[in-house]
Amino acid sequence: MDNTANRPILTVLDDGHRCSTGRAAMTCHYKCGNACAQDAPNVSDNPYFGDVLGAAFSRRGLLRAGTVITAAGLASTALGAAPVAATSARTRAVPGHTPGLGFKPVPPNTLDQVTIPPGFVQDVVIRWGDPLFEGAPKFDLHNQTPSAQKQQFGYNNDFLGLMPLERGKKLMVINHEYTSDSIMFPDYDEENPTEQQVKTSWAAHGLSVVAVKEVSGSGNLKPIVGHPLNRRFHTRTEFELTGPVRGSKYVRTKEDPDGTTVLATLNNCAGGLTQWGTWLTGEENFNQYFANAESVTDPVEAARLARYGIVGGESQRKWERFDDRFDIAKEPNEPNRFGWIVEVDPYDPTSTPKKRTALGRFKHEAAQPRVTADGHVAVYMGDDERFDYFYKFVSAKKLATGTSRRARRHNATLLDEGTLYVAQFNGDSPPAEIDGTGTLPADEEFDGSGRWIPLVSGSESFIDGMNANEVLLFTRQAADRVGATKMDRPEDVEPSPKTGTVYIALTNNTDRGAAGKPGVDEANPRKANKSGHVIELVERQNDSGAKTFKWQIFLVCGDPDDPSTYFGGYDKSDVSPISCPDNVTFDPHGNLWISTDGNAIGSNDGLFGVAVEGDFRGRTKQFLTVPVGAETCGPHVDRRRVLVCVQHPGETDDATFENPGSSWPGGGSRVPRPAVVAVWKQDADR
Ligand code: FEO
Ligand code: CA
Ligand code: CA
Ligand code: CA
Repeated sequence: MDNTANRPILTVLDDGHRCSTGRAAMTCHYKCGNACAQDAPNVSDNPYFGDVLGAAFSRRGLLRAGTVITAAGLASTALGAAPVAATSARTRAVPGHTPGLGFKPVPPNTLDQVTIPPGFVQDVVIRWGDPLFEGAPKFDLHNQTPSAQKQQFGYNNDFLGLMPLERGKKLMVINHEYTSDSIMFPDYDEENPTEQQVKTSWAAHGLSVVAVKEVSGSGNLKPIVGHPLNRRFHTRTEFELTGPVRGSKYVRTKEDPDGTTVLATLNNCAGGLTQWGTWLTGEENFNQYFANAESVTDPVEAARLARYGIVGGESQRKWERFDDRFDIAKEPNEPNRFGWIVEVDPYDPTSTPKKRTALGRFKHEAAQPRVTADGHVAVYMGDDERFDYFYKFVSAKKLATGTSRRARRHNATLLDEGTLYVAQFNGDSPPAEIDGTGTLPADEEFDGSGRWIPLVSGSESFIDGMNANEVLLFTRQAADRVGATKMDRPEDVEPSPKTGTVYIALTNNTDRGAAGKPGVDEANPRKANKSGHVIELVERQNDSGAKTFKWQIFLVCGDPDDPSTYFGGYDKSDVSPISCPDNVTFDPHGNLWISTDGNAIGSNDGLFGVAVEGDFRGRTKQFLTVPVGAETCGPHVDRRRVLVCVQHPGETDDATFENPGSSWPGGGSRVPRPAVVAVWKQDADR
């Protein structure tokens, strides 16, 4: 049967959109609503403060490129003390391995498989459509229904966290960021999706909690169907709004006149696990689900929508045809109920997840907590948009230790009260030395100092003309007014559990330095930054509660033959090419692991391990690559296994359900299915 004759191909392909970073147009279409085809929403004249503050501090001659220095030494250097070692890594690179990174790197490739190093084995842990509950229907590709999907693993797995359970078991928590409808459903007509398709798509978005069993003698994990902690959260699940914005006039709707209960979490990208046993997940490109923004004529309201990239007309998935909530003309406040950090307690199967409004509203990539020196909790957060900002929240209350009911009750309120800051990065080199080519300045580091600018604390706003609720709801506009540094898409963030140094992935920004767009600065030093970079941030006294920090660029990503790249000073002839860093995590040895989103240098996406200290600091090693069209997400690395989420396999520009761009993981003529993959060493007890 020819299903293609009268079905419109993705309009995104018709308008000639090509992602400037190597991402398939279909991925741009479904994942972020073609964000890169539109102007970046930050058109504020928020000035760059340049070297105003940074000039006071120069580390010229201390931290040269190639310097070998422990992270502890880096911290002390950043605070002005002498480094503990200063020997060129370029001259000391010797054969050998960093503990935890003793694998043979996987070369760049475009294979339709998960490619892993020799000596490792892999298996699929769970796929889109696999059952989570007793009695869940068997996955039926040609008869997908909302009720079946609500009982099955969702689509496009992104963040993955592994939480402890009783011996031999773990609790896996997973984001289902979005759906790729045209390769997911047979006979999909994007101009006229059926009600069944739309409602199945609602059910395929959201979150999963899945108990898994460790397979003895390997690093593999198997889902425990029917485990009492298994859950699915989707577009008809209740989420509670908590914190200052709860009940405000901006979040009241016809369905929820009290402004306290939201159906759905949307576009959950990355996240983080808390020290008190909960899971944080970020609502990212929520803008794309809302239609008819042009119906808003009040200039203040219209500017708020525009700053979040909420544009007029129909939405891509046409959800507004089946639920008025997604039609701004009918329910103007509904978009204000998305764009939050959500906290889930996966250990309580009856708990209602909370949208924590004290952490601000933006395109939240992730949220990673760290305990401050005086026992409060700091949460680091990126706003993943070109020229948007990096944030930190510090709780008003201290973390209660232990797992008593009282401690758990107390910790469940930690993220409802505190201070929200935005980051300003100041370079320490003269601006003229940051020429946009990636050439290091005379002090041989892209580095400097920075400060956390408070936006709001409890009910106190620090922004003229905006009350506290408005700062939390329209956080981007508040940050525009205080001199926050416009970054190259801040994605995931991870403090090193060994050193406390905070690693921030900046995925890319091809608009950097373009005509009419913000130019380079020392923290975003490369024009047309198609492959992104990674920043190290060291808080004053290594305290996450500090108001100031030092920073330096750890990696300027890309093909190592490209002179604009930088690998922590390591010998570039001995690194794996890496492009578009996105998710970051640490292994138990203290190595950083980076997964990529959108390879701009001709390979499939991958997962990389890299030492952040010692002789091999900056030596990226590719551990795996994912299939055609896919993005590497997750990731999780422990002593027994590496877990990755293979997101959107087969999302290539010419793909449809009937003509898939990948057949992973089933092979043959099967359609691609997003899935979690475990990889472990053949002799598993390493
Ligand atoms: Fe969903 Fe920022 O990637
Ligand atoms: Ca410098
Ligand atoms: Ca991401
Ligand atoms: Ca992470």
